[in-house]
Amino acid sequence: MDLNLKDKVFIVSGGSKGIGEGISRVLAKEGARLVIATRSQGSVTEELADELRADGTAVEIAYGDLQDIQKCKAAIDLALEVYGSIDGVVNNAGVNDGAGLTAGPDAFRKSIEVNLFHYYNLVHFALPSLKKSRGAIVNVSSKVAITGQGGTSGYAASKGAQLALTREWAAELLPYSIRVNAVLPAEVMTPLYRKWLDTTFEDPGSKERQISAKIPLEQRMTTAEEIANMVAFLLSDSSSHTTGQFMSIDGGYTHLDRSLT
Ligand SMILES: NC(=O)c1ccc[n+]([C@@H]2O[C@H](COP(=O)([O-])OP(=O)(O)OC[C@H]3O[C@@H](n4cnc5c(N)ncnc54)[C@H](O)[C@@H]3O)[C@@H](O)[C@H]2O)c1
Repeated sequence: MDLNLKDKVFIVSGGSKGIGEGISRVLAKEGARLVIATRSQGSVTEELADELRADGTAVEIAYGDLQDIQKCKAAIDLALEVYGSIDGVVNNAGVNDGAGLTAGPDAFRKSIEVNLFHYYNLVHFALPSLKKSRGAIVNVSSKVAITGQGGTSGYAASKGAQLALTREWAAELLPYSIRVNAVLPAEVMTPLYRKWLDTTFEDPGSKERQISAKIPLEQRMTTAEEIANMVAFLLSDSSSHTTGQFMSIDGGYTHLDRSLT
């Protein structure tokens, strides 16, 4: 299937590591032009950008912590300055920071600032351009929004709010044919996931095997590329009548009968 993404312009937040890296790679393979908005300075981002550029992809990097509203604006401005238009926003940057019920009000507020506000802010600043291009928005949420996890109130609240905003924006943006969808990963081995395993459990290896064994399809984690393929589809004309949807890309982990595993 030709997704017809050649020369389309996408902003990918957190686009140089983990799932975001997978999204950048898949969009680059489809010939899209990218702005990676990330606070991950240094070799991880530079090396990815160099590699994609060497393969002929136009890549710009907007460095900064997206908790800063001006950094969100700067990422959008950069796309418009360099490419002149924006065809889609992929809200992906986030961190499961373990701000649970005992962490207190400041930790809860901080977690929402890290995980939620920039989803709104990037779309807010990109909106005039998205209206012109009839663009698309993909919000990367999490199965935590549906299942809970325990000990992570701020992250869970943010991920749930991202789903609410997916429906809200899908409704608000109908007149402009801007489609808005969400992708819900469950278990994807990324730097963030690795850190969570290594810092939360005494025996991370056995915890990893235990989780994988509970994933119905093939008892394995989802790859970043498998998430990215759905994101690319949702950004493309091939999903031209799909909006306001929540896609669980998780080998059946969230929704299939527990007795299967
Ligand atoms: N890995 C999983 O299993 C999993 C499961 C469910 C949902 N998710 C979601 O997928 C998304 C990506 O997660 P990942 O596992 O690839 O994480 P990751 O830590 O491996 O990569 C995230 C990237 O986003 C950047 N980032 C985070 N917050 C930022 C901010 N405020 N400003 C700028 N950059 C920021 C980080 O620096 C990093 O480069 C997140 O929204 C996460 O909640 C991941």
